[in-house]
Amino acid sequence: MKTRIDKILSESNIMTRSQAREAAKKGRIAVNGAVVRSSDEKAEEGDVISVDGRPIERRRFFYYMMNKPAGYVCATEDNGPTVLDLLSPGDKARGLFPVGRLDKDTVGLIIITNDGALAHELLSPKKHVSKTYFFRLEHELISRDADILSAGIPMDGGTTKPAVITFEGREGTIAVTEGKFHQIKRMFGHVGNKVTYLKRISFGPLELDSSLAEGEYRILNAEETEKLRIQPVSGGIMQYEQSKA
Ligand code: URA
Repeated sequence: MKTRIDKILSESNIMTRSQAREAAKKGRIAVNGAVVRSSDEKAEEGDVISVDGRPIERRRFFYYMMNKPAGYVCATEDNGPTVLDLLSPGDKARGLFPVGRLDKDTVGLIIITNDGALAHELLSPKKHVSKTYFFRLEHELISRDADILSAGIPMDGGTTKPAVITFEGREGTIAVTEGKFHQIKRMFGHVGNKVTYLKRISFGPLELDSSLAEGEYRILNAEETEKLRIQPVSGGIMQYEQSKA
């Protein structure tokens, strides 16, 4: 898979694309020892790119956030469309996969990467990574039901960990530190309600970038990637707040 040299240099935090263009014009960039005059030129995975005679360290791991639309499955392969189908062919060729799953009809923040070790950490139940969802329900939520859900309900032979719920009427947010199958829908189902819309708005330290329309994605910057690596283990929080009208 060939990638443009300016893209490789900017993704590897060596220089911006415009700096790469200027550097190439000045003959500062070489691929396998041969000077390239345009940063539009492409390099293969194993090619050695040097700047001013020094080989660069190419980035191996990539991290993206996507605003997942409804109708796409969080998998690398499926009979229907997957979130990977929304990636550009160049990005798709990087061996990426979604970190965890959102239901087909759930929208919002999904992290996509080729870093299996980090994905494993983020999904490990021991790490208690908090995930926040905006929900809309069929019926108004009442305080007693929110109390029940915040404290924990029986699920899959155990009890759900404490959740933090804020709500007003039929809408609100719920933060959980687990990722059981259909967890949020099952939680509200437990108190006789039904989720009619679900959107993940945060995952650990990352919030969904509000400039991303559904179906759009962007690469995480260095600061965001760093934040993802350092996952504090949070204790359970037993409270929920009812938002003020
Ligand atoms: N809980 C659900 O029920 N569905 C999701 O997609 C995510 C969490």
